Amino acid sequence: MFELLVWLRETDSTQKRLREGDFPCGTVFVADRQKEGKGRKGRRWESQEGGLYFSFVLCGEDFSKPFQIPLVAGLAVSDFLDSLGIRTAVKWPNDVYVKGKKISGILAERTKDKIIVGIGLNINQRGFPPDIEDRATSLHLITGKEWDRKEILSGVLEKLGEYIKDYKRKGFEEFKGRIEDKLLFKGEEVVVLSEKPIAGILEGLDEEGFLILRTSEGPIKITAGDVSLRPRL
Ligand code: ATP
Ligand code: BTN
Repeated sequence: MFELLVWLRETDSTQKRLREGDFPCGTVFVADRQKEGKGRKGRRWESQEGGLYFSFVLCGEDFSKPFQIPLVAGLAVSDFLDSLGIRTAVKWPNDVYVKGKKISGILAERTKDKIIVGIGLNINQRGFPPDIEDRATSLHLITGKEWDRKEILSGVLEKLGEYIKDYKRKGFEEFKGRIEDKLLFKGEEVVVLSEKPIAGILEGLDEEGFLILRTSEGPIKITAGDVSLRPRL
């Protein structure tokens, strides 16, 4: 599935490189560091040396619901990390967490005919800037070991290729239950931060991958948009 891989020492953003170029489906761009790594809604993605920052091109016509892709890709990253002996959770709609901290963030962006998927995975970072240090973690911080980023990339891409192929053939149904089993805050009280914060118990996902919250006014469905999920303190 990933037939061309370009590994750069440094770039502004692998996501931007693929968005602005005309690369075939399956192309992967990886960078050792990014000067302008971005998360959802243009939020900064800290991209210092030691992490893995990569983006790949999917053929847009194969996927009519791109908002499901970060969930499927998140499960692939999470299952791969679990295979290394690290217990991870999937945080709706686009992150992977370990022990309450974010280890990976995923982004899917539609261009006119393609979908560019970007993944940031924290590997050998020894620490993070003060504004995110209590929310971010890396494989090194968890295990105390130095990891081979090439091996990790190859393992993650293999899992991603497998899951994306299955998703294309069988749809989201194949993944819904598996994602729910690893869903961060499932059954717990949460607050969804959007224009107006909404509090409720996180029930799970609907058939399409939207979040179901049980609120005092009954169940409601949350679509990703610009919402952030937080535990209710
Ligand atoms: P969160 O709930 O984790 O704050 P979010 O869903 O509100 O995330 P996103 O756009 O998904 O926001 O992710 C961007 C956020 O991720 C940044 O605002 C920052 O808090 C955090 N972040 C930035 N770089 C990293 C990194 N390398 N590792 C972990 N977290 C990071
Ligand atoms: C998020 O959590 O909001 C998603 C973070 C996505 C970060 C990756 S790193 C590789 C690619 N290049 C970018 O600028 N962003 C994505």
